[in-house]
Amino acid sequence: MYRFTAMTGLLFLLNACAGYNPEEDYDLVIPARLNAVQVVDSHYPEEQVERGRYLADLLACGTCHTVGALAGEPDQTRYYGGSDIGIAYTSPFEGNRPGILYPANITSDPETGIGRWTDEEIMRLIRTGVDRHGSHNVSVMPWQGYTQIVDEDAMAIVAFLRSLKPVIHKVPANVLPGQKHSAPFVHFGVYRSKN
Ligand code: HEC
Repeated sequence: MYRFTAMTGLLFLLNACAGYNPEEDYDLVIPARLNAVQVVDSHYPEEQVERGRYLADLLACGTCHTVGALAGEPDQTRYYGGSDIGIAYTSPFEGNRPGILYPANITSDPETGIGRWTDEEIMRLIRTGVDRHGSHNVSVMPWQGYTQIVDEDAMAIVAFLRSLKPVIHKVPANVLPGQKHSAPFVHFGVYRSKN
């Protein structure tokens, strides 16, 4: 259901200023709170897992990395199991098809998740954006905001992720700018009128 909030009001205002109404081309959705807890037995100390959960919640990891969360309908049974909704990193309003990244499955499933990653590899990705193959994530994953996380806290986040129920779920392949996409996406952007 469509609700009018301060945020949608602001969007209307911005769109009116820009002379373009994206709602003619796109549906607007309002994200909901994610509050699932699906923890399996873990060999990490409970206190460490709880600290990791607290941090992951603060850093909003699950709001990108959970099916449906980006569109306000998180699938609580696939908590942290990756998103079928992508995030566009180029503007969908420029005429070209946008580049899109799909937040990965970060549960411990070895095939579709990060079960084969070492603790160090996960900690490195969170703090530097560099994945286990040495390539750099584009800025959609907000690792720039996570660079100051101390070892103890980074390890707590890893312990929390490892304590989650492994979800078997392959996210859609990332889409390069100009390519056709088949899964939906959201886009965050700041626009200024050109005249
Ligand atoms: C704004 C959305 C967003 C948030 C918030 C976010 N991520 Fe991500 N993350 C992504 C995207 C998108 C990718 C995939 C990037 C790519 O494919 O290049 C990713 C990739 C990853 C990966 C690599 C997985 C793989 O298989 O390559 C890990 C691990 C990860 N994120 C963990 C986290 C953790 C832990 C947090 C919270 C501290 C977090 N992310 C917060 C969007 C996000």
